[in-house]
Amino acid sequence: MKLWLVAWLCLASLAGAQFSTPRTQADMAALLANGPRVAGTPAAQAAANYLAQQLQQAGYSLQLHPFTYSRERDLGSFVQLGERRLEGNAIAGSPAGTVEAELVVVPGVGQSQDYAGLQVTGKAVVVRRGVITFLEKARIAAQQGAVALLILNNQPGGLLGTFAGDGPIPALGLDAALEGLLQASQGQPVRLEVRTQRQEVQGRNLIAKKSERPQAIVGAHYDSVPGSPGANDNASGTVTVLELARTLANTPLAQKVWFVFFDGEEDGLWGSRRFVSDFQEVLLGLKAMLNLDMVGVQVGQGLGVGGDNDLLALLSSNPETIRPLGSSGGSDHVPFAQAGVPVLFFHRGLDANYHRPTDQVVQWPLLASTALAVENVLNELLLPR
Ligand code: BES
Ligand code: ZN
Repeated sequence: MKLWLVAWLCLASLAGAQFSTPRTQADMAALLANGPRVAGTPAAQAAANYLAQQLQQAGYSLQLHPFTYSRERDLGSFVQLGERRLEGNAIAGSPAGTVEAELVVVPGVGQSQDYAGLQVTGKAVVVRRGVITFLEKARIAAQQGAVALLILNNQPGGLLGTFAGDGPIPALGLDAALEGLLQASQGQPVRLEVRTQRQEVQGRNLIAKKSERPQAIVGAHYDSVPGSPGANDNASGTVTVLELARTLANTPLAQKVWFVFFDGEEDGLWGSRRFVSDFQEVLLGLKAMLNLDMVGVQVGQGLGVGGDNDLLALLSSNPETIRPLGSSGGSDHVPFAQAGVPVLFFHRGLDANYHRPTDQVVQWPLLASTALAVENVLNELLLPR
C-alpha cells in the first residue's frame, strides 16, 4: 500500500473516532436543550448564542447577519359543526376571519367540472386534496360563488398547506378521517374560523471566518420546525459543520472557507436567500457552496450528494459510497445554485421522524463520515497538489 494512502486511512479513521466526543455530544445537547429552534424564538436565539461562542473559542471571527421577514401563525383554526368543533389548519395565505355558511361536499378535488349541477353561491365547499394546487381549488371555488373552502387530506392525518401567495377565500385543511362526518352534514350550517396572525420574525445567520474573500462556503441551517427537536433536521448538519470548523481552524483551509449557519430555512430558505442577496461580491469568488441538511440518519444506501458535476467528481475516491441525488431538494444550497454558484448538497434521505416530535437522535459515525466527505471536497478543490 502506498504510504500516503496509509497515512490518509489513519487520519480518516482518526477523524471518525474523534467525532463523537464529549465536545460534539455537548453541542448536540446544547442545540436540543431549549426545544424546537423555530426562527425568531428564544430557543433559536440560544442556539445562535451557543454556536457563536463555540466558533469564537475555535479562533474564528464571528459575523452576525441579521434579517427580518414576516411569517403567518395559526392561532387555532377550526370548523364548528353543530356541537362539534373540527380542528383544522389554515392554508397559509388564506384570509383570516369567520364565515357562516351552508355546507356542500363537492364530489372530487375541486376542478370546475366537479361543480356541475351544484349550486354553491354563498356556501362553504368541501373538496379533496390532489390533482390541482390549493390555490387553483380556491380560485375555482370562489368563481363558483363559494365563500369558504375546506380541503380534506387524501391520507390519514391533518393537512398543512400553503397557497404560496394570497388566497381568495378563507380556507382550512382537514384530516381525511372527517370525510364521513362532512358527507353526513351536507346542507347544514357551519361556522369556519380562520384565526391567523402575521408576525415579524428576527432571523440570524452566523458566519465564522478567518478571511474576507472565501473560496468556499460550508453551511447548514440550525433552525427547526415547531413541535420537532430537529436532531437530524438539522442539528446533524449544524454539529458536523461546527466540528469541521474546529478541526480545520489551524489549517490552510480555514483561510479559504466561511462556515455559515443559516436561520429561517424552514420558513422558506430565508437565511440563505438573504445571504445571497446581501453578499453578492462574496458569491463572485466562490468555487463552491456545500450544504449539509439531514446527515445523521441513514435512509437507503450511501451518502446522498447532489449538485454540480465537477464538484461531484471530487468525491470519486471518497471512502463512503456516494449516492447521487437527482433533484437536489429544498434547502439552503438552492438560492446559491440559482445565483450561479456551484453547489453540493449532502443529505441522507427523509427519515420517518422528519418534522416530528420524535426527531431526537443521530448516529455519530454518519456525521463523521459526512465531515470526511466535505473535507475531501475542500482539499481537492482548494489545495490542489
Ligand atoms: N431538510 C428539510 C427537507 C429536505 C428534504 C430538503 C429533502 C431537501 C431534501 C428542509 O429543512 C425542509 O423541510 N425544507 C422544506 C422546504 C423549504 C423551502 C421550506 C420542505 O422540504 O418542505
Ligand atoms: Zn432541513
